[in-house]
Amino acid sequence: MSSSFPGELTGTRPRVPLAHLPTPIEPLPRLSARLGGPKLWAKRDDLTGLAGGGNKARKLEFLIAEALATGADTLVTCGAVQSNHARQTAAAAAKSGLRCTLVLRGREPHESQGNLLLDRLLGAEIVWAEDRLADERLGEVAEELRSRGRRPYVVPYGGSNPVGACGYVAAMQELLDQSAREGISFDRIVFPSSSGGTQAGLAVAARALGYPGTILGVSVDLGARALQEKLAPLASATANLLGLSGSFRPEDFAVEDAYIGAGYAVLGDLEREAIRTAAETEALLLDPVYTGRAFGGLLDLIRKGTFAPDERVLFWHTGGIPALFAYSEALAI
Ligand SMILES: Cc1ncc(COP(=O)(O)O)c(C=O)c1O
Repeated sequence: MSSSFPGELTGTRPRVPLAHLPTPIEPLPRLSARLGGPKLWAKRDDLTGLAGGGNKARKLEFLIAEALATGADTLVTCGAVQSNHARQTAAAAAKSGLRCTLVLRGREPHESQGNLLLDRLLGAEIVWAEDRLADERLGEVAEELRSRGRRPYVVPYGGSNPVGACGYVAAMQELLDQSAREGISFDRIVFPSSSGGTQAGLAVAARALGYPGTILGVSVDLGARALQEKLAPLASATANLLGLSGSFRPEDFAVEDAYIGAGYAVLGDLEREAIRTAAETEALLLDPVYTGRAFGGLLDLIRKGTFAPDERVLFWHTGGIPALFAYSEALAI
């Protein structure tokens, strides 16, 4: 089933309902009090559903609609062993009656935990990239499937092309509708940023709808300039796809790159403390790779006095919780 939503910025794009929307906005009063301000809220995209929640559910609503329109019978994508994107792509395939092949980085681990366990339960076929780059293998695997008579649809890394980014254009519109209905506005929105679809989509809708606040992406893996240079063309192409005028420059994006630590998916004290603090004060579960890092960055920025005590800050929880279960040793629990 594909539907469109008139009146929405993304109303011209085909969309398959896969996520539980709108996701709730929750105040975090105990944490705000412990920190002495600012006022904190969380937008709970960890509750989007689709086999464990997360931001990819929103992107996949638009990507799956395109896959079905092209007559695809198989989704193919790539990612890390604990990729949330791979897990939600496998879930979207299962729910849409499509097959799924995942190209995952590195070699097959001895145990299937966290997202990898779910990929397998969801019926995905897994190809290990071993010594090759997973995104390089992706094209070859799609070609192999084609040569066997299948009709693959390649979902890009992180679901971050203009079609996928529409998920976060719609998400920003959803947030602004909720804000208007509930009478709360947010001065800043903070979240993890990596392949860029989330931040690009938010920025496109923010500009189109006149959101006056700051949208701050906490980079998970790239230096600020490299991420900004990825975001600008993606946001411009997304705006273009939706018939919105104007283009984006790298400087249009607020990015904080001080929390990359020892690199992608390497859990450090920043993430450990953030995960414990959010769980102990608000029963808010964060993931070790994305939201743990971004929330750790947010806590650090708060301690450095970056925000005024009465500022209203929304932490956009982008999901990833299944990966927690693959990190019990690194969490030292
Ligand atoms: C839980 C989680 N948060 C944030 C992100 C980053 O979002 P984006 O790739 O759209 O920048 C990802 C991407 O994989 C993710 O899995």
